[in-house]
Order: sequence, then structure tokens, then C-alpha cells
Amino acid sequence: MSKPLNVAMIGYGFMGRAHSNAYHKVNNFFELGHRPVLKVACGRNLDKTKAFAEQWGYESVESDWQKVLARKDVDLVDICTPNNTHAEIATAAAKAGKMILCEKPLAMNAEEGQRMVEAVEKAGVPNMVWYNYRRIPAVTLAKQLIDEGRLGKIFHYRAKFLQDWTISPELPQGGQGLWRLDVAAAGSGVTGDLLAHCIDTALWLNGDLATLTAMTETFIKERKHNLTGKVEKVGIDDAAIFMGRFRNGSLANFESTRYARGHKALYTFEINGEHASIFWDLHDLHRLQYFDHRDQGIVRGWRSVHVTDGDHPYMGHWWVPGLQIGYEHSFVHQVADFLEGVEKGKPAEPTFRDALRTQMVCDAILKSAQDGKWVKVAGA
Ligand SMILES: NC(=O)c1ccc[n+]([C@@H]2O[C@H](COP(=O)([O-])OP(=O)(O)OC[C@H]3O[C@@H](n4cnc5c(N)ncnc54)[C@H](O)[C@@H]3O)[C@@H](O)[C@H]2O)c1
Repeated sequence: MSKPLNVAMIGYGFMGRAHSNAYHKVNNFFELGHRPVLKVACGRNLDKTKAFAEQWGYESVESDWQKVLARKDVDLVDICTPNNTHAEIATAAAKAGKMILCEKPLAMNAEEGQRMVEAVEKAGVPNMVWYNYRRIPAVTLAKQLIDEGRLGKIFHYRAKFLQDWTISPELPQGGQGLWRLDVAAAGSGVTGDLLAHCIDTALWLNGDLATLTAMTETFIKERKHNLTGKVEKVGIDDAAIFMGRFRNGSLANFESTRYARGHKALYTFEINGEHASIFWDLHDLHRLQYFDHRDQGIVRGWRSVHVTDGDHPYMGHWWVPGLQIGYEHSFVHQVADFLEGVEKGKPAEPTFRDALRTQMVCDAILKSAQDGKWVKVAGA
């Protein structure tokens, strides 16, 4: 029999739903020592929180996260609120001795992130950040291929994350659904929102970034603010581009924007090594493109590996070979790995400390773009 692990969900938006779905599914597909119990949902609007709790099967609701932390029947706090709330909730949850799962980016900046790392490490509580793309089976397979040395020495890492939903100057900033455009709530624009995903994957697959030079742009300089009703300066970066050098000597080329008309969530990466290359595309997430120069010449070419076989990462837990899974399953895998880590006393990654590395790269991007100079990534 698996042991109950009581979950408190803070926030009931996009990620509140994605995580709740994962808690529901995980024990159906993975054999684990623990079983998440949806104990309490927390949101500032009690009617909306009640509706969410009813739809997703939470046993109770709260409107104040401090009350959630004071509850003895809560083991784990899941932070699914805007970026400017992560640090306060996480440090308080650590003091209260709760396990913490926090949405990305870890914090508004590395300084805040550092305090969060200190809080969870001092309290000794299990912690993890939801950089979920690591656990899409094709991405996990990329990690396996690199770790097996199949690519050899890595020369290039190229990544982009493109969207197109903020092009209209009529779109306001701030408040429900639009906090991502408000620098006071988001900390940054595409850098912390989209590029952070590309960076987390890159650090995991290819090691630390050492130096970089970046440019950012805010195409729409003023927008009406939903909370004040006034037209206000826009403080986020609408687009960010950087090039840099990894510690292993390979070159980095990254781009992110919300102004790429026609693209909704085009996250791609390509890695070129001395023997082989790999390419992955979120729009075709169950495939990994692989080219191996060591193949016999007459049949050498890019292979499109359909990552659905039982011996592919995570896939043995799902259907039969050939049947694919989707975006939401990356969250199920992340919960499964977290619970396994709790059971074995071996933390699943990325921990807060791992996510702080990504935060340091984000800070370096914004600093370089502001100063127009190459910068060394902190700690690299
Ligand atoms: N891992 C991913 O791929 C991914 C995807 C989307 C969002 N995120 C991250 O998840 C977090 C939430 O994003 P989202 O898209 O779910 O946002 P959302 O706007 O859909 O939902 C945010 C929720 O937080 C609530 N909230 C806001 N301030 C609060 C407060 N002070 N106390 C309690 N509740 C509060 C809102 O009412 C809402 O329920 C962000 O940090 C974001 O960067 C991660």
C-alpha cells in the first residue's frame, strides 16, 4: 500500500490544472511508495477556488496561503502562482517544514533564488522546480544519447522558443492572465518565461554556460495596465537573443520572442557533435531527429525516431509501442520522479539549487543586454 502524501495547491490557473492532472494520474501508471492526496486548493478568489477544487477533487479550500502552511495535514506545497510570489511562499513553506514543488522560473532574479535555495537547504525539505520539458521522453532520450557519448565532443547548441500572442498594442499588461507582461509580477519577459526552459534543458544536456552576450527588445513600449487602468511603461523584454560559450567549449545560440507571427510554442533545440547531431521540436514532441556520421555512407541520413517504444524513457509505463503521449505526461513523469526521490532519499532534479543556475544565466542575459557587453555567468 502506498502512503498518502497530502498536497496543497497554491494557484488554480494553467499550471494548477497541469499539476493536478499529474497528481491524479501518477499512481495509475507508476508503482510508487507514496500517493498524492489533493488536500487543499488555495486561491485569493474563494468562489473560483471552490469551483477548481470541485472540478479537480480537492478536499478543502483556503484563500490565504499562510493558513495553508499552518495546516498540519499538508505535507507538500505546490507553488503555481506568478513569479513575484514564489520566493515569499517557498521560504515560508520551508520554515514550516513542507516539501516544496515550485513553478519556474525559480525567482524574480538570482539574488532572490539564492535565498530560496538557502531556505530549503537549511530546512532540509525535498524541493524541485517544474522545468517539465526534461521529462518529455524524446528530450530524456537526447540526454541518454549524449551521456552515452554518441555525439562525441559537442560543438554547437542552438535553441529557440517562439510565440506570437503579444503583438497587438491593444493587449493590456498586468492582472489575471496578463501578469506575464507586467515586469513587477514576472521579473522579466521572454527571458524568464520562455528562454528559461531552453536554458534549463541546455544546462542539463550540455553543462554550464560560462559567458554570453545578449540583446533584448521591447517592441511595444507602453500598454494599459489592468490593475491601475493607466497607460504605463512596459518593463519586460518582448524578445531576447544571446550567444555564448559553454564550459565544455561548445557555442551557444539562443533566441526567444513573443513576436514570431505564426508560432504558438515553437521550442526547438539542435545539438551538433563530432560524430552525431540531434534535433527536437516541441510541436512534434514524441520524435527525436538523429544523424550519425558513423552510419554506412549509402544509408546515412537523418533518422526520425518515434520515441514510443517500451525501452524508451518513461514509455514502458504507458501504452503499446507506436502510441504516443503528450505535453501533460511530462508533469506526470516529474511527479513520479519526485516521489521516487522522496522514497529513496535521493532528490529528483532540478532542485532549487539546479534552477538557480538557470536564474543566473537569465540575470546574465538581462545584464548583458542592458550594458551591451559580454558577461561571465555568475558561478561559472
Ligand atoms: N512549467 C511550465 O511549462 C510552465 C507553463 C506555464 C506557467 N508556468 C509558471 O507557472 C506559474 C503560474 O503560471 P500560470 O500560467 O499557471 O498562471 P495563471 O495566470 O494561469 O495562474 C496563476 C494563478 O495564481 C493565482 N494567484 C496569483 N497571485 C496569487 C497570490 N498572491 N496568492 C494566491 N494565488 C495567486 C491566480 O489567481 C491564478 O490562479 C508561473 O510562475 C509561470 O511562469 C510554467
